[in-house]
Amino acid sequence: MFRTRVTGSTLRSFSTSAARQHKVVVLGANGGIGQPLSLLLKLNKNVTDLGLYDLRGAPGVAADVSHIPTNSTVAGYSPDNNGIAEALKGAKLVLIPAGVPRKPGMTRDDLFNTNASIVRDLAKAVGEHAPDAFVGVIANPVNSTVPIVAEVLKSKGKYDPKKLFGVTTLDVIRAERFVSQLEHTNPTKEYFPVVGGHSGVTIVPLVSQSDHPDIAGEARDKLVHRIQFGGDEVVKAKDGAGSATLSMAQAAARFADSLLRGVNGEKDVVEPTFVDSPLFKGEGIDFFSTKVTLGPNGVEEIHPIGKVNEYEEKLIEAAKADLKKNIEKGVNFVKQNP
Ligand code: NAI
Repeated sequence: MFRTRVTGSTLRSFSTSAARQHKVVVLGANGGIGQPLSLLLKLNKNVTDLGLYDLRGAPGVAADVSHIPTNSTVAGYSPDNNGIAEALKGAKLVLIPAGVPRKPGMTRDDLFNTNASIVRDLAKAVGEHAPDAFVGVIANPVNSTVPIVAEVLKSKGKYDPKKLFGVTTLDVIRAERFVSQLEHTNPTKEYFPVVGGHSGVTIVPLVSQSDHPDIAGEARDKLVHRIQFGGDEVVKAKDGAGSATLSMAQAAARFADSLLRGVNGEKDVVEPTFVDSPLFKGEGIDFFSTKVTLGPNGVEEIHPIGKVNEYEEKLIEAAKADLKKNIEKGVNFVKQNP
């Protein structure tokens, strides 16, 4: 029989790892995003326990990824026997890609009617079964679903603004990729902040703060438009079969990794993300995405937008007008449909 000899160094490694036990839960794990996201989380060494929940199919996804030889444990849950409670128990981070995706011709706001109630109900479950977890909302329209989660958690007295994030990382990875195609550079080395929200004109790529501040005129306009509406390229190409799933899974996996690294105490982990932000509260905009330093408590520091040019100021103004409406829509939905 194999026995582990407990030495000083083994004990040390036990105590370090005990502080770094991170259960990550995916709600909507059998979906187009949920499946590859579950795979990528299984490959993340900071994830020690993976809980996969969906209305259908999550046990199958769990059985599948559980054969990958990394150290984490994996379990799949269905709504039977209150599976969501079991799934959420002990969660450090809950990612929510549950909801319907776009079809050609739809905006993200067109998804509101279906996804608002899905996200509201899942947020209630999080408030009940994982009130201390960090929550990353992927389901669209993010500009409205994040305020929905906030309102639900507030109604339960469980809202911690430092722990709720709208995952806008896809806009950032698109910016990095698209600018590298334009400039023939290595996309993995690009720096390109994107602020605002996550839909159309609320997505504000800050070219002037990127590694290519000199891109101007038509080239800049085209680049900005491509980043804002890059999702439409995928929706069109998939021709009715959904929206971005694989690139989105990569984006969410990057966000989750950054958050867990911050939680583990790593310094200077920064990602743009849609959070409860003081920046434009005076104008009635309670959520905004800018660069956020992630730390043990979640949001460690919300960075200001920084220096922008006149062109970007106009983009920000356009974003603010839409954002205000999107946020109000989410808040009002929960008031009217608690
Ligand atoms: P999908 O339809 O392939 O998967 C959604 C999954 O959610 C399905 O497996 C479904 O059974 C599950 N689901 C539905 N209601 C549920 C509930 N109440 N509880 C648990 N699971 C539930 O859709 P896909 O492509 O994975 O997209 C999911 C969402 O992510 C959509 O709203 C989409 O618009 C959004 N999205 C967000 C992006 C972002 O940048 N934040 C990018 C791309 C998509």
